Amino acid sequence: MKNKQAVPTEGVKYAGSKLRIIPHIVGLLDDTKDVRTVLDGFSGTSRVAQAFARLGYTTTANDLSHWSEVFATCYLKADKPVEWYAGLIEHLNGLKGYEGWFNEYYGGDPDHKDVRRPFQRKNTKRLDAIRDEIDRLDVSNEDRCVLLTSLIRALDEVDNTLGHYAAYLSGWSKRSYKDLKMRVPAIIPHQGQHRVFRRDVFETIGADTYDLAYFDPPYGANNHKMPSSRIRYNAYYHLWKTIILNDKPDLFGKAMRREDSRDTAGGSVFEEFRSNDEGQSIAREALRELVKKTRARYILLSYSSGGKVTREEILDLMTGEGELVKALEIDHRKNVMSAMRTTHEWVHSDHRHHEYLFLMKK
Ligand SMILES: C[S@@+](CC[C@H](N)C(=O)[O-])C[C@H]1O[C@@H](n2cnc3c(N)ncnc32)[C@H](O)[C@@H]1O
Repeated sequence: MKNKQAVPTEGVKYAGSKLRIIPHIVGLLDDTKDVRTVLDGFSGTSRVAQAFARLGYTTTANDLSHWSEVFATCYLKADKPVEWYAGLIEHLNGLKGYEGWFNEYYGGDPDHKDVRRPFQRKNTKRLDAIRDEIDRLDVSNEDRCVLLTSLIRALDEVDNTLGHYAAYLSGWSKRSYKDLKMRVPAIIPHQGQHRVFRRDVFETIGADTYDLAYFDPPYGANNHKMPSSRIRYNAYYHLWKTIILNDKPDLFGKAMRREDSRDTAGGSVFEEFRSNDEGQSIAREALRELVKKTRARYILLSYSSGGKVTREEILDLMTGEGELVKALEIDHRKNVMSAMRTTHEWVHSDHRHHEYLFLMKK
């Protein structure tokens, strides 16, 4: 295995991205034996899946969202040489922009500071030209995912947002003045061993066995009035879905969200704050079911102190289904990490820490 601490990954700004704790995640793999196949069940940006694949694990990335499928396909499955993609990307970067659909709804004039659009017009015009050209190119699905990932990452570098597309800034951010520039993504060398699914996690765990499954489920917020994150992810990144599908959907609201990103869709069981008929927390039972039904020798779970399920409940359900190998508690503000091997040791830590990692053996 290569140097675990310095494993490079790429991604966009994303709510709940595990970018900062990747060194801890891959470090925990030292506490496992004979792991070759891994599942990233909620892969989001695909950064953690990328780290696994870079380290030589046969990796399956799964998430409900279109963008996650596109990112993971780009990094784990694209199979042409870098020069081939570089030629295509140079062609796309050289296209002259025009006033198309994206420019109409998402482009703003830099002279009007109160317009609240996610990009400046010079960049949405280029987006229109590039996105239409990608559909005209005769390329494979994997190659299309490389071009779309490159385009979405380029947009992420010139956005006028706080990291999501549910609202836009009133002034213009400094980076929105930059020119959109696509780059070749850092595709991971492979022999076709990795897989990517866009499915509900329960469907994916029911279909196969893995040596290790990594789960980073949506945690929800302690605030009951907050929409659940399944809804929020749709609302936050609606634009990535529209760019991927290029389907010019009906839009609503100030942020020009797609109709199918409305808050009326069902939330995720992992964030449910209510109890079931037996009086058990639905979120905790969903996690228990996930741990129970996953056919893997090891399960590595990311969780946060603000989530619906407490760390004691997680420890309890993990020890009920197997053996705790190690747990980490990471406080980003203090840059402190504590490791625990027995449930007893948790008594000594305060409750203000933010990120947890639990490694269990089934
Ligand atoms: C906390 S984020 C994962 C972030 C990821 N680890 C990263 O570093 O980018 C949670 C992800 O779970 C996905 N998700 C929510 N419910 C899901 C479900 N039932 N099955 C699969 N994915 C789901 C969301 O689309 C979101 O990308």
